[in-house]
Amino acid sequence: MIGIIGAMEDEVELLQQEMDLEEIVQKAGMSFYKGTLCGQKCVIVQSGIGKVNAALCSQILVDVFQVDALVNTGIAGSLDAQIDIGDMVISTDAVQHDVDATIFGDPLGQVPNMDIFAFPADEKLAGLAKKVNEEVNPEIHTFMGRVVSGDQFVSSKEVKDHLVATFHAKCTEMEGAAIAHAAYLNKIPCVIIRAISDKADNSAEMDYPAFEKLAIAHSVKLVRGLLEALK
Ligand code: ADE
Repeated sequence: MIGIIGAMEDEVELLQQEMDLEEIVQKAGMSFYKGTLCGQKCVIVQSGIGKVNAALCSQILVDVFQVDALVNTGIAGSLDAQIDIGDMVISTDAVQHDVDATIFGDPLGQVPNMDIFAFPADEKLAGLAKKVNEEVNPEIHTFMGRVVSGDQFVSSKEVKDHLVATFHAKCTEMEGAAIAHAAYLNKIPCVIIRAISDKADNSAEMDYPAFEKLAIAHSVKLVRGLLEALK
């Protein structure tokens, strides 16, 4: 059973409509759609935005649905000049960029007392996602690397420059690292797949609404392809 999490309605509704639905379970204000999609048993859920929603949602998927893996799908702001709007980023690991215990000597992003800095993606899942994306979305570029998450929509050059300099990440969003953190604690594999909707700078305010749908179309295609490949 695969848990598929998207923060926003547009990121999951198409997948939920297409699935062979067994039941919808309501919990913590979230609707968990359990069934089969592309031949794979899964639960597809809209978590809501932000790290707390994403972490809660992940734990429910583990405890109530006993998922074997977590896939986070959605969109993100690019942190790399090479990565354009529409392109795909697949996580190798994820860091919460707004965790700050630097006063105690921890690097920015380090969750105090955790035994790791960056929460890893499952290498097999990430590798498969890359291969599948190159097949199902051949018109865009596929990148692998670090994803940073924070409870913040990044839309200024100053904040972007700070994230780029500090974390060497490929993209920024608001849930992925919380999901990767939950997966790490529960010892299950996870991967974050994010299509780029904006460049997380002063152009983000204009670009995000203009390119949100295009980016979501790419991530939805990849989720379908990934489920198919996991059969
Ligand atoms: N999701 C899509 N674009 C984003 C941005 N610029 N910051 C945070 N989350 C995002």
